[in-house]
Amino acid sequence: MNLASGWTLAILAIAAACSASAAAATQPKRITELISTRCSTCHGPTGQSSNAEFPKLAGQNADYLVRQMFNFKTRARSSKDMEKEMDGLSGNDIEELALYFSRQKLVPVARQDTALSETGRNFYMRGSPERGISACAVCHGDKGLGGKLLPRVAGQHARYIAIQMRRFAEQSRATDQMLMHSVTSKMTEDEIWFVSYFLSGYD
Ligand code: HEC
Ligand code: HEC
Repeated sequence: MNLASGWTLAILAIAAACSASAAAATQPKRITELISTRCSTCHGPTGQSSNAEFPKLAGQNADYLVRQMFNFKTRARSSKDMEKEMDGLSGNDIEELALYFSRQKLVPVARQDTALSETGRNFYMRGSPERGISACAVCHGDKGLGGKLLPRVAGQHARYIAIQMRRFAEQSRATDQMLMHSVTSKMTEDEIWFVSYFLSGYD
C-alpha cells in the first residue's frame, strides 16, 4: 500500500465513523421519546417484541415499515392498536421511526422441532406447483429477507405470521393483498402453521 492510498483509507474510515455517530446523535429527541414511551410497550425498545402477536420490527425493511405505518394512519390497514398510535405522527416521524427499527438486529427464536421446521422449509422453497401455489422464496427471497417494499419474514414471530396469512386468505388485510391472497387462499391450516414455524427460527 502506498502512502497516498493509506491516507485515503484513514480519512474514509474517520469520515465513516463520524457519520455513524452523527446519525445516532441526531436522532431527534422526539423520536427517542416516542420509542421509549410508546412503541416499546408492544414492540420492545429495539423492535424485538416479546408478545408473539406483536410483529418484530427489528431488521425489517425501512420502506416496508413506512408504507405499513401510512396504511394504519389512513385506516387502509386496520388495527385498533396501531391506528391510534399513528395519529399525530408526521411523515418525518414515520420515516425516522422506520429507519431506527430497520437498523436494529433481529434475533430469531431457537427452534426445537427440526422435522416440523424442515417441512416448513420445503414448502417455503418450492410451494406446491401441483396446486398452483408459488414458492414463498420467489418473492420473499431464499433467505426470507424480502426487498425494498417486500417484508422480511425470516425471524418473525410464528404466531404473527400465521395470523397475517389467515387475514390475507380471508381478505381482511386488504392493502396490497392480491399476491398474498392468491397464495394463502389455497393453503391448509397445517401448511400455514409449519411455514410460520420454520420462518420464526430462520436465521
Ligand atoms: C398497544 C400495542 C402497540 C403499540 C403501542 C405500537 N404497536 Fe405497532 N403494532 C401493534 C400490533 C398489534 C400490530 C399488528 C397489527 C395487525 O394486526 O395487523 C402492529 C404493527 C406494526 C407495524 C407493521 C409491521 C409489519 O410487519 O407489517 C409497524 C411498522 C408498527 N406496528 C410500528 C409501530 C411504531 C413505530 C410504534 C410506536 C409509535 C408502534 N408500532 C406502537 C401493536 C402496537
Ligand atoms: C408473488 C409474490 C409473493 C409470494 C409468492 C408470497 N408473498 Fe408474502 N407478501 C408479498 C407481498 C407483496 C407482501 C406485502 C403486502 C403488503 O404490502 O401489505 C407480502 C406479505 C407477507 C407477510 C406479511 C408480513 C408482515 O410483516 O406483516 C407474510 C407473513 C408473508 N408475506 C408470508 C409469505 C409466505 C409464508 C409465503 C409462502 C407461503 C408468501 N408470503 C408468498 C408477496 C408474496
